[in-house]
Formats: sequence, structure tokens, C-alpha cells
Amino acid sequence: MDFKTELKKYQNQIEKELEKYVRKQSCPERILNNSMEYSLMAGGKRLRPTLVLATYQLFRSDYQICMPYAVAIEMVHNFSLIHDDLPGIDNDDFRHGKLTNHKKFNEATAILAGDGLLNNAYMVISNDLCHTENLEEKNKKIKIFAEFSMAVDRMIAGEYIDTEYEGKEVLAEYLEYVYQNKTGALLKLCVRMGAILAGANEQELKQLTNYADKIGLAFQIKDDILSVEGNELITGKPVGNDEARGKCTYVSKYGLEKAKTILAELIQEAIEMLETFGEKAEFLKELANYIKDRNK
Ligand code: IPE
Ligand code: IPE
Ligand code: MG
Ligand code: MG
Repeated sequence: MDFKTELKKYQNQIEKELEKYVRKQSCPERILNNSMEYSLMAGGKRLRPTLVLATYQLFRSDYQICMPYAVAIEMVHNFSLIHDDLPGIDNDDFRHGKLTNHKKFNEATAILAGDGLLNNAYMVISNDLCHTENLEEKNKKIKIFAEFSMAVDRMIAGEYIDTEYEGKEVLAEYLEYVYQNKTGALLKLCVRMGAILAGANEQELKQLTNYADKIGLAFQIKDDILSVEGNELITGKPVGNDEARGKCTYVSKYGLEKAKTILAELIQEAIEMLETFGEKAEFLKELANYIKDRNK
């Protein structure tokens, strides 16, 4: 398996699927629709939907069934990014190498584009639920719907505490709590959605949840590291912004080298969680390494 080729394949499938949800018709609110499209199709890594599909494929190959959930999570993710960049939160001007939504449009539009993407996510899921006739499948999806809304709730809570802690030194355990919520919750949801849809048993779900917990925290630590030593031309977002806002991060708290050590340990532990899945888990293992080694 060539990891980069596989990842590209997932990303292409997801891009194509997302395109289907872009509203092109001319209507009074077309600029709002354009601003939702602007962020949704701006060129993110599509890590979250990839996690849904790849986890499902540990068990089964008919992954089309996951697509509404993969699309919905990417919509929520982009809602979180639009609002995260707003002047009242991180006040950032660039993302994906382009102006942030509120800079390209305006603040009112960006707030509503975020709201729109969040609601669209629930529209996509509830539509899929309505069209699922098999009762067993429907029940699985209702469980996922509940987990989905709880994970979004955690992400929002994490973003809130993150703003409240700005400019303050934060205890290690609180910092981990923020990361597990603002970033980890959605990543964990992705893995669990793929596993539940595929019918994973309790033990498998537990191992995959542990894997997801590790990569979720690791993902945000790497984001902190890139905020210090990343290349803006590659990350597409400002470097040095965490420090400028006086944010307590894993880098400010532990130093760059220790943060990298913690990251590497988490990735190693995540990979160990997949051992019993054998060769089929190769992609998810490589994905964990990608989270550690990525430069954007
Ligand atoms: C950025 O997430 C926000 C964090 C949770 C750190 P990603 O780096 O996955 O965003 P894109 O979609 O790939 O740009
Ligand atoms: C991102 O936090 C978390 C969410 C958007 C939910 P950050 O503020 O650290 O992420 P970037 O660096 O702006 O992407
Ligand atoms: Mg932020
Ligand atoms: Mg930010």
C-alpha cells in the first residue's frame, strides 16, 4: 500500500462528494451560499472524512454508506474553522493560503456561513436517516446521530474554554482537556462513526476509540508545533499567531522538543492500539504517522 496514493484517493472521493452539496442556484442569499462553498471547498486535508471511510474499511468495503457522515463531519469542521478565525476568537486573516471567510466576505456573512454549514451537516444526516428503511441500520444511525451532536457540543465547549484561557498559564490537565474537546472530540467521532457503521464489536470499538483519543490530542499538539516552526506558504495559515495571542499551548508549556516527544509517544501508542487488526490497519497506522510528520 502506498500511503500517499491512498490518501489522495480518499481526498478526491471526498471532494467529489462535497461538490454535490454546493448550492449553485441564483437566489437572494447566493452570497451566503458562495461563502459556505468558499470555505468548504478551500482545500483542507479532509482528514476527518478520510478517518470515517478508512475506519469503516477496516471491516467492510462498501464505504458509500459512510458518505453522508463523512460529508457532515467536514461541514462541521469547516463551520468550526470559519468561527475560529473570527475577530472575536482567533482573529486570523489567512487559511488554506486564502483570506479567511470574514475577510473575503464580511463578519456577518462568515457567522452565518458557519451556522449554515453546521445546520447543513444535520440536514445531510437526518436526510440519510429518513431514507434508511432497515430498522437495524436505522438504529445504528440514530446512535451515531446522538454521538455526532455530543461531539459537536464538546468541540464548541473546547473552543469556548480555549478563548477563556487566552493569555493565561494553564495547568497541564486543563490544557489536555481543552485539546481533547476542541480538536479530539471530532476526530474521535470520525473513527467511532466508521466503526459503528461497519458493525465493529465492543472490543474493536474500544481499541479504535483509544487510537482516536491518541491521534486527536496528537493532532492538536502538531498544530501547535506548526504554529511555531511551520512554513506559512505550506500551512496556508499564519505562523506565530498562538504566541502573538498569548496562548498557552503544548509548545509554550513544555518547549518545542518536549512537545515533539509527547507527540511521538502518542502516535506510537495510537499505532499499538491497532496491532490486533493486522495488515488491514496499515493505512490507519500510516495516517497516525502522517499526523506527526505533516507540514500542513
Ligand atoms: C485545523 O484542522 C484545526 C484544528 C483542529 C487544529 P485541519 O488541519 O484538519 O484543517 P484543514 O481542513 O486540513 O485545513
Ligand atoms: C482549532 O484550534 C480548533 C477548532 C477550530 C475547533 P486552533 O485555533 O488551534 O486551530 P488553527 O491553528 O486556527 O487551525
Ligand atoms: Mg483557535
Ligand atoms: Mg485558530
